[in-house]
Amino acid sequence: MRKLLLIALLTCLSAPAWSAGGGGDLMDARVDVSDEASLQRGAKLFANNCMGCHSAEYVRWNALPEALGVSMETVESNLIYGDYTPGDTINAAMRSADASDWFGAEPPDLSLTARARGADWVYTYLNSFYRDPDASIGWNNTLLANSSMPHVLWRMQGVPEARYEESHGEQQVAEVVLPEGQQGTLSESGYHRATRDITNFMAFMAEPVRAKRQEIGVWVIGFLVIFTILAYLLKREYWRDIH
Ligand code: HEC
Repeated sequence: MRKLLLIALLTCLSAPAWSAGGGGDLMDARVDVSDEASLQRGAKLFANNCMGCHSAEYVRWNALPEALGVSMETVESNLIYGDYTPGDTINAAMRSADASDWFGAEPPDLSLTARARGADWVYTYLNSFYRDPDASIGWNNTLLANSSMPHVLWRMQGVPEARYEESHGEQQVAEVVLPEGQQGTLSESGYHRATRDITNFMAFMAEPVRAKRQEIGVWVIGFLVIFTILAYLLKREYWRDIH
């Protein structure tokens, strides 16, 4: 019986590691969905660079003001292009049929990706693009080999190249570097921050109520502590006469 309990406990403890994708070499995105400034920057970057191809169908525009700490007017004027009503979901500008013709793969909906793949995975993906010497491949990605997504943020990051090593008779990417003169408009840390902000926004989308849940959690624990103390005092009061 004790063994069973131990197994159950260990399973619970290791579950979060599984659901996070458990990847070995992922970078740490250190997402924080209560960081409104980061969410604002992330939302803007997402609207300008990602929504041409990707939708976020499970997220409604009117969920954004509260999470980002801005008014609906700010969301309208900064993030939304074209006609919409506030209850609309975040839809891609591109029709998915066109997208698969152009890219060979349909850009997936990104509402839940940060939860399905894990935020660290998304962050690492955005930091793993490189220019493949094989011109027929074009952009490639060390995390998702032969990914059909182009490196849409290359102007910010620059044009990274791969350094190869031989392993079991095959050429494999050993590391990705940004050669001198190939830098983009952002510094290395600037690009890390931009991709972290995008990842943060995607983490918010994957679970819009997370920040609120954490906030409520503190109150619930506080209530339980106070309630436990009261219950204990009450118990002592009742038992005093009996002892
Ligand atoms: C030009 C169109 C295009 C743009 C713009 C674009 N993507 Fe993609 N994206 C794709 C395609 C196509 C795929 C599918 C790749 C594959 O499976 O080979 C993809 C895949 C992804 C994936 C992997 C999803 C998964 O679970 O496999 C992530 C994450 C992603 N994109 C994030 C982004 C982010 C963040 C941006 C904005 C910075 C962005 N994309 C901009 C076309 C695009």
